[in-house]
Order: sequence, then structure tokens, then C-alpha cells
Amino acid sequence: MIITIDGPAASGKSSVAQLLAKKLKIAFVSSGLLYRAATYLALKADINLENEILLLAMLNESELRLEPEPNNSHKITLSGQDISKYLHTDKIDANVSILAKHPKVRDWVDERLKTTKGSFVIEGRDMGAKVFTNANYKFYLSASPEVRAARRLDERLIDLEEMIAQLIARDKKDYKQLKAANDAIFIATDELSLIEVVETIFKKIAHGKDF
Ligand code: DC
Repeated sequence: MIITIDGPAASGKSSVAQLLAKKLKIAFVSSGLLYRAATYLALKADINLENEILLLAMLNESELRLEPEPNNSHKITLSGQDISKYLHTDKIDANVSILAKHPKVRDWVDERLKTTKGSFVIEGRDMGAKVFTNANYKFYLSASPEVRAARRLDERLIDLEEMIAQLIARDKKDYKQLKAANDAIFIATDELSLIEVVETIFKKIAHGKDF
């Protein structure tokens, strides 16, 4: 079974997808991690993030892998080393959208995601609309920039106003990548807790009795 959860930055996709996957005892995949890892690599190698050809050459030569873990999660490895913990920094937040806008880079990421085996919950921007168009269930989470900023505040050392401004700026940059599938179920999460969002999705799935 494949379940896609898409939505803008800090809409809660990642936490919701992780909890849902745990509840269903299937794997969890974050597609954003591959974009983050590619950005990490490009910044380290001092590659201009606007240069699609150089980025693609870097990716094709790299030993960047999305690998399943025994706990149903996935880690990102570079030449066998787990680099997942370096990928959620302000610097990567600020640069990842530049890299993620290139169609060939997106194809490279999509190809890797498509090799994922078994049943899984995958979160991103265009998982339901582009990468897993045959997914059994597709969800799209939304929330206002204010609500999303408040949720993300604990993870970053900046104040609320700055976080709201950063998210609005990232929404603008991610705008082209963010695609809701026509057949996705929309969930406005502003007034819902994390558990309530997971329960809402779980009920829709349980109703369909696909597992
Ligand atoms: O979900 P996230 O914040 O970890 O994603 C990091 C960035 O990667 C985000 O700014 C946009 C990009 N991204 C994308 O373009 N397509 C995806 N499927 C997932 C992420």
C-alpha cells in the first residue's frame, strides 16, 4: 500500500506521515530528505545551486542513497555514512528550494524514490500528483503560515515573526513544485492537533478497508 502526504513547508506532513506509518506498521519516507542531502552535498562542494548541469553531474557521481532502517524509517547515506542529522539546518532550509526547482534534479530524486519497496507512507510536495500517481490514498495538508511557523519554532533558534517571513518566502520559492493531486483528500490542519490529523487520515483509510 502506498499513501502520499503532500503540503507546504511545516504543514506537519513529516510528523503526520511518521505517526501514520507507525500505526499502520509500514515504512515512512521523506522525499524532502533527498533534496536536502543534494543541497548539503552541493554546498559542501561549492557548486552553484543555479547550475543544473553541474548539480546533475554531482548527483550522478555521488554515493547518495536513501536506505531503509530496521525501524521502518529511512536514512540518507553518503558513501555509506549516515548524514541525516546534518540536513535540517537554517542554511539548508534557505537554499534547498533553489536546487529543487531544476527539472533534471527532480527526475533524479523521483527515480530514487520510485525504487522504494513494499508498503509505505511518503511525504513531500508532489508525491501524489507526480511521483506515485497510482497511490492507494493521497492526502494534502494545509495550514496558515502563522500556524506553521508556531509549529516549527521549537526546531529553530529564531523568533515567530522571522519564522513566518521565512515560511512565506519558502512558499513562494516552492510554489511551482507544490502540486496537489486532483484526487487528493484535503485536510485543513489549523485547528487540529497532530494526533487529530493522524486520526482523520486513519479513519479515511480504515473506511476504505485496504489493509
Ligand atoms: O519537506 P522538507 O521541508 O524537508 O523539504 C525540503 C525542500 O525540498 C522544500 O523546500 C522543497 C523541496 N521538496 C520538493 O521540492 N519536492 C518534494 N517532494 C519534497 C521536498
